[in-house]
Amino acid sequence: MKRIISPSMLSADFGNLERDTRMIDRSQAEWVHIDVMDGVFVPNISFGFPVMKPIRQATKKVLDVHLMIVEPEKYVERFVKEGADYVTFHVEATEQIRHCIDLIHNAGAKAGVSIKPATPTRVLRDLLSKIDLVLVMSVEPGFGGQSFMPNAIDKVRELAAMRKEQGLDFLIEVDGGISSKNAALLFDAGAEALVAGSAVFKAENPEQEIIDMLEAK
Ligand code: DX5
Ligand code: ZN
Repeated sequence: MKRIISPSMLSADFGNLERDTRMIDRSQAEWVHIDVMDGVFVPNISFGFPVMKPIRQATKKVLDVHLMIVEPEKYVERFVKEGADYVTFHVEATEQIRHCIDLIHNAGAKAGVSIKPATPTRVLRDLLSKIDLVLVMSVEPGFGGQSFMPNAIDKVRELAAMRKEQGLDFLIEVDGGISSKNAALLFDAGAEALVAGSAVFKAENPEQEIIDMLEAK
């Protein structure tokens, strides 16, 4: 099974965004996770379009954009234009899920859907054939540095089973409270991509923490 680490720039040093992006670029992480928050879908505001450019310029790695915003259909094309490779939005944030997926695909990026800790995987059943990625939240979206909620592990197992049943190949990503201490559990449950913010950026040696996550047993 493939293992991908997606360090979350939410925990980077914004006074040194280019330096921190270049550090990820040198590391074994294949993706860069970008958390966009609007203060409405989640009780916090992070950043928007202007951070895409310096990050895109500092790395050729896959930009994994996680939108925690209402009415994502209004903005997904712009994120693709700014260099996103994956655009993931929350199914709880829009009435226009299919339209939003089509907009992302037509703009030339891969489309992901995300579920909050209280949202069951069954709501995704009929969407799975249309998407490239499912992002399972293992904390309430809005803040870095929270504790991992173990019900995410069952959701990963359920999604992996649905993927097999339906003969699909979307990726499963998990986000929130992940480090080299719990990475193996999630990879073993069937996830390919793990997001890590504080575990990477607060580590004494971030590049080593990424390797430890990739090699976790
Ligand atoms: C939370 C964000 C996460 C966050 C993860 O709403 O979606 O991507 O940055 O941070 P850690 O890894 O510190 O839990
Ligand atoms: Zn995220």
